[in-house]
Amino acid sequence: MNTPRTLGTPLSPTATKVMLLGSGELGKEVIIALQRLGVEVIAVDRYPNAPGHQVAHRAHVINMTDGAALAALIEQEKPDLVVPEIEAIATDKLAELEAAGKITCIPTARAAQLTMNREGIRRLAAETLGLATSPYRFASSLEELQAGAAAVGFPCVVKPVMSSSGKGQSKVDSAADVKAAWDYAAAGSRVDSGRVIVEGFIDFDYEITLLTVRSLGADGKVVTQFCDPIGHVQVHGDYVESWQPCRMDPVALERARDIAAKVTGDLGGLGLFGVELFVKDDMVWFSEVSPRPHDTGMVTMATQVQSEFELHAKAILGLPVNVALKAPGASAVIYGQHEAAGIAFEGVADALRVPNADIRLFGKPESFARRRMGVALATADDVETARVNAKAAAAKVKPVVRR
Ligand SMILES: Nc1ncnc2c1ncn2[C@@H]1O[C@H](COP(=O)(O)OP(=O)(O)OP(=O)(O)O)[C@@H](O)[C@H]1O
Ligand SMILES: [Mg+2]
Repeated sequence: MNTPRTLGTPLSPTATKVMLLGSGELGKEVIIALQRLGVEVIAVDRYPNAPGHQVAHRAHVINMTDGAALAALIEQEKPDLVVPEIEAIATDKLAELEAAGKITCIPTARAAQLTMNREGIRRLAAETLGLATSPYRFASSLEELQAGAAAVGFPCVVKPVMSSSGKGQSKVDSAADVKAAWDYAAAGSRVDSGRVIVEGFIDFDYEITLLTVRSLGADGKVVTQFCDPIGHVQVHGDYVESWQPCRMDPVALERARDIAAKVTGDLGGLGLFGVELFVKDDMVWFSEVSPRPHDTGMVTMATQVQSEFELHAKAILGLPVNVALKAPGASAVIYGQHEAAGIAFEGVADALRVPNADIRLFGKPESFARRRMGVALATADDVETARVNAKAAAAKVKPVVRR
């Protein structure tokens, strides 16, 4: 680990420079947190005017899966830290540059490599670390998938090994539906690897994200801290609302922290991780992990003393963090609802009249029906009220197309 020892002045020879690979709504908030510490930020994405581009010192548009293009940009900018904010990156190139001592990758290039492919992280969690997961098989053909589905049993869930936000993912109830799931996965995969995972369906009571932070203590050793658990609801594999704290059985919480400590301890480095877990009574299954802020964790902008973005920014700079909860709260997603560029938002004032509500609009240049364009946040004395109010505020924001 090559952590900056001092913080400099941006745009000067002392500047502490951080490059974000991926500059969506999560990257944008990390950038704002870094800007507040006087860090010089370089935002990279695959399209112009991405949310994070709009708040960084410099913005670049490249294909981040192109290793040569990525290396050339890193050579040009010479950042102190390279911070992957999305999965679809040439992580092998990052590993090569890290091994050659040319970059410090957050949390580690290996973590980025393992988590960009479901096979890497699943085999690590289940086979190396021995954590409880759903039963699973990998398949590279329809025949292998049929055998794999039969082995894990029905119902099961089929997902491309390289995809996120539920893309290409489907639930399969019987052998007759396997072919449809195979075809759907091929269409939704980020990279046409033709490889899928089939997982036995876990009939969980609820699912959580356990935000886990690895930061440096006063003695220079890494300390692992846990935020209060975040409950969330997913529709078609995409998050629609989240809340914190999520009430949990104390034994389940203990197990959740144990799993999170093991998996983040193995991935190593500094920063915040989103550990996704399924819970039933006091049983806990590991699902997956993001080595970076998590979408369901946007609720922490309202609920925590330091949001997940501030925690990530501070931890990667080698600074201490505070994971304390400030107030119970909730988040609810605002979708684009239209396929259009440059949409407008009506009802923002009405949304802000909901008690203790706030909103974030991401500034994405182009809207799709199911694209996340903003989020409503609310705090309250209890999570139930916060959930009602966050959803009420989100519903008041009406995306419109102006011509
Ligand atoms: N084996 C399973 N059993 C039951 N539900 C599942 C299973 N796998 C996935 N799900 C449901 O689908 C959701 C999305 O799955 P997963 O997190 O693996 O996909 P993803 O595409 O990586 O999503 P994201 O990128 O939004 O986290 C889960 O949060 C859970 O609600
Ligand atoms: Mg997930």
